[in-house]
Parts: sequence; structure tokens; C-alpha cells
Amino acid sequence: MKDQAHTLRKIIEGSGSRHLPQVLSVTSGKGGVGKTSIVVNMAILMASQGKRVLVLDADLGLANIDVMLGLSAKYNIKHVLDGQCSLEDILLEGPGGIKIIPASSGIQELVDLSHEQQLSLMNSLDYFDQDIDYMLIDTGAGISRNVMYFNCAAQRIIVVATAEPTSITDAYALIKVLRRRYGIKRFNLIVNNVSSKVEGDQVARKLTMVCERFLGDVALDMLGSIPSDAGITECIKGQKAFVGVNPTGESSKRLERIVRQLEYCEDANSNGNIQFFFKRMLLNQAKGSNYAGYGISRPY
Ligand SMILES: Nc1ncnc2c1ncn2[C@@H]1O[C@H](COP(=O)(O)OP(=O)(O)OP(=O)(O)O)[C@@H](O)[C@H]1O
Ligand SMILES: [Mg+2]
Repeated sequence: MKDQAHTLRKIIEGSGSRHLPQVLSVTSGKGGVGKTSIVVNMAILMASQGKRVLVLDADLGLANIDVMLGLSAKYNIKHVLDGQCSLEDILLEGPGGIKIIPASSGIQELVDLSHEQQLSLMNSLDYFDQDIDYMLIDTGAGISRNVMYFNCAAQRIIVVATAEPTSITDAYALIKVLRRRYGIKRFNLIVNNVSSKVEGDQVARKLTMVCERFLGDVALDMLGSIPSDAGITECIKGQKAFVGVNPTGESSKRLERIVRQLEYCEDANSNGNIQFFFKRMLLNQAKGSNYAGYGISRPY
């Protein structure tokens, strides 16, 4: 195990920084708050601004990104782990040229890779030749190991909540676990499905207050809110992105503002490319760290 960790560390150190994308996870305590819809539409907006975007569907839930966009995935990350194809082979292309790594049971295995699977993924990464500006990870909801795994490997964690009290308490529970168990101190917040901007700000204030009171040194930066919009539900039913169907609608404009803000927040010291992202996950596994005390240098 020690040798394996050493080899992986060498690979990471030698991987160079050809290009440094921002790796963002979009996550929530409670399910069904709009993560997948936000990831898909955010990715398309970023692509429309000339960014190269890769989306990792890391949610084992039912509303998968490929389904939301009416795409069909023949292969998924499990096939890569089994050595049947490369990471490049499984990429789906969505609107605006966004690239999607589809989810499957393989996502669970990614959290628990065998040595053969690590080598197979590593091999695949050596041939992965996509320059990416943003990698967006759609995590599942809750505080499972799987969700923590992807949040810990991301450089920026965007928590999505709604104004429902259960969503707020679950968002707090998620932040608490990430702070107490994994040492993460900085989070971004999007409040979805709000009746007004004021309601969104109130949710942000409530969450900030409980975080300050019970966790002390946690910073929760509000990115913005998205209105409750029947058009979004219609778009999901029609397997279309709302920013494409109604680009001048209020929801699209608000999300656009959030994306602009993210760019503004971009940290010059962001570390790692996509290869780096996966390799550091592998490294933490080889170290057997069980993700506690993750030795990841974070931009915040
Ligand atoms: N701003 C909004 N206005 C109205 N409805 C919305 C809005 N955002 C999301 N929804 C509704 O919420 C449902 C859940 O959205 P979505 O699948 O994106 O959530 P999720 O957080 O990814 O769920 P899960 O935790 O199951 O993965 C959608 O089917 C959609 O109808
Ligand atoms: Mg989802």
C-alpha cells in the first residue's frame, strides 16, 4: 500500500500543469432541490461563454444528467474501470459542446477502487486529452461517503438549498460534517426555487447564522438565488435545458449572474487538471486515509 501511494504521488508531482480547470461540486443535504438542473444549465451557460466544460455525473439517484438532456449513454465509468474503454470513449456531448461523464454503479466503485481498477483508470487518464476550464460535479444528496468523497476532491463546493426548513437543516448538517470531519471551511450557496430574491437572502442569512453560531469559522458565500419557475419543470419534462429554451427569462438571467460571479471568484491558485483531480482521489485511497485529513491543498 505504501509503495502504491509513493508511485501515485510521483505521477501526480510529475503530471505538470498543462491547464488548470476549476473543479466545482454542486451538492445538497436534502434531495430534489435542483442540483442536476443547476449543473446542466450552468454548464451550458459556461460553454456559451466560450468555456470548455466537463460534467461528472456523480449521482446514483434517478435524475441523471444524460436523461435530463435526452442523451443516451452506452458506456459509463464502470466500463473504464473494467478496462473496456477509455475515459474519452464514454464522454457524451451535450448542448453547446459540454462533455459529460455519465453516472452508473461505477460511481460507487470509484469510491472503492481495486488496485486493478486504479491502474486501469490511471492508464485511461494518460490518454485523456481534453483541455477543460471547468469541471462540474453533480453529487448525490446527503452525507454519504460517496458525496463526501467528491466534495472533498473539489476546489469549490456549491451547496444548493431551498427555503424549506428541512432543506435548510439538511444543508447545515452537510456543512457541519464537511467542516468537522473533513476540515473544510469555505462554501458557496445557491438558494433555489424561491418566491422572491428576499426569500433567497433570508435563507442565506439563516444558514450563515447557524454556521457562525455552531461551527465558528465557516464562511458561506451566497452566489445568488433562482426563482420558482414552472418553466424549469416543463423543460425537465421535455429533456431540455431552461437556459436554451428561455435564455432571457428571469431564471436564466439569475443563473447567468451566478456563473459570472463564479468567474470573478476564480482563484488564481487553483490546483490541478482533470488528471490531477482523479489522481489525487486515487492517492488518498492508496494512502488508506478514508478521506479524513484529506491532504488536499485547497484554494480556500
Ligand atoms: N427553480 C425551480 N423552479 C421550479 N421547479 C424546480 C426548480 N428547480 C428544480 N425544480 C424542480 O425540482 C425537481 C428536482 O430537480 P433536480 O432533479 O435538479 O434536483 P436534484 O437536487 O438534482 O435532485 P436529486 O437529489 O434527486 O438528484 C425538478 O424535477 C424540477 O421540477
Ligand atoms: Mg440530481
